[in-house]
Amino acid sequence: MKYILAPSILAADFGNLKRDVETVARAGAEYIHIDVMDGMFVPSISFGMPVISSIRSCTDKVFDVHMMVEEPGRYAEAMKKAGADLLCVHQEACVHLDRTIQQIKDLGMKAAVALNPATPVQTLSCVLEQLDMVLVMSVNPGFGGQKFIPYATEKVRTLRAMADERGLDLDIQVDGGVGLDNAGQLLNAGANILVAGSAVYRGDAAANVREFLKVFEERAGKG
Ligand code: DX5
Ligand code: ZN
Repeated sequence: MKYILAPSILAADFGNLKRDVETVARAGAEYIHIDVMDGMFVPSISFGMPVISSIRSCTDKVFDVHMMVEEPGRYAEAMKKAGADLLCVHQEACVHLDRTIQQIKDLGMKAAVALNPATPVQTLSCVLEQLDMVLVMSVNPGFGGQKFIPYATEKVRTLRAMADERGLDLDIQVDGGVGLDNAGQLLNAGANILVAGSAVYRGDAAANVREFLKVFEERAGKG
């Protein structure tokens, strides 16, 4: 299993966004997690396509775009053009989830679905085979710096068991309140991609990335 760190730029300094993306990319983060909020699906508004295109040139790392947007299929093509490699839509925001997943794949992006804390993993039973990744939210989406909801760990465990049973090589990402204190527990439960906003950008971002990578190495060493 390959472990990946996805720093969330929501916690970066927007006035120095290129610098902050480059810092985590150079330190070894393989994904850049990009939180798009529409003020409808979640209360807050973050940023959209112009910001994403303007940082696309500073790294060739995977742009992992988390759409906290109602009916995100409306923006799939624009996100691809802006530089998204992976598009993650919320199950709760898509009336025709199957169609939205197909749309993302037809555009040549990796397709992922995010689940709010209260949404059970079984809701993805019919579409699991079509997905590259599932994002288990461990806070209610909308803001950085919130407290980790402990039952998310059990959801990861259930999802990994579902994927294993079907022989699927599914990426499982966890987002919200993730830090060095709970990273090991999440990997043990079956997650392989961790999103971290404040835990990376609070203090020395490069050093924080390296600390996460150490946890990954330790876990990989255990087989
Ligand atoms: C929350 C976002 C997260 C957020 C994580 O709605 O989806 O990606 O930036 O921030 P931390 O790691 O600070 O909880
Ligand atoms: Zn996110």
